[in-house]
Amino acid sequence: MTDVHSHILPGIDDGSDSFETSLRMLALAEESGVHTIVATPHYDPQAGFDNHASRDLLRLRHSLTEAAQAEGLDISIRLGMEIMASDDTPELLEEGRLWTLCGTRYFLVEFLFDEEPAKCFEILSRCRKRGFRPIIAHPERYRFIRRDPQIAYEFCLRGYGLQINKGSLLGRFGEETRITAMRLVSHGLAACVASDAHGAERRTPHMGKARELLAAEFGEEYAELLLTVNPARIIAGGELAGFEPRPFI
Ligand SMILES: [Fe+2]
Repeated sequence: MTDVHSHILPGIDDGSDSFETSLRMLALAEESGVHTIVATPHYDPQAGFDNHASRDLLRLRHSLTEAAQAEGLDISIRLGMEIMASDDTPELLEEGRLWTLCGTRYFLVEFLFDEEPAKCFEILSRCRKRGFRPIIAHPERYRFIRRDPQIAYEFCLRGYGLQINKGSLLGRFGEETRITAMRLVSHGLAACVASDAHGAERRTPHMGKARELLAAEFGEEYAELLLTVNPARIIAGGELAGFEPRPFI
């Protein structure tokens, strides 16, 4: 499996707090069958996470990779960012000040939970015009999607990918989020499922239970599509597969 969303780099956002935690997280991911994990530190200056593309982040990834190899962990750590959408997102991407996912045209983007949908569409459309392709992090957690999941369908029609959190499917963010996540997946709107891991105790990168649930509810092939096939295509800059979005009518 490939995990396209994790806060695994130590000490730079609200994710891993130390190298030790990061190594425990990597061990959990590897144990559950993840061979590639994308570190996606928050870019969210309002929340105090002012991470830009930088040599420091590159060095941190390098150090963590070396430490993981020393521990005998067989997992590749790649780089991206989780970008809180704002008016200047398209320009920051174009200037290379924010990272896309593994240097592709796909970028991981999130919104304020109570953002206005029109604002989301406007920012994403300007990113798309510059050739960047949004992967929308945890749509099931936004209030406007819970209220009106048809908006998620509208995102899909525009070619935007939806990344569902494994914790949402497992009910870790409450019943309303779980139901919304399941509705999005059952309507064929999900491009992939990722961990959005923040630690080694809770919100971990272990994908076992999410994989079991997806296979039980939607079949092994669909679980594979969301956890392996599409995440690998995203980080290779390829086209998303198996997309048959159905509207909510
Ligand atoms: Fe995240």
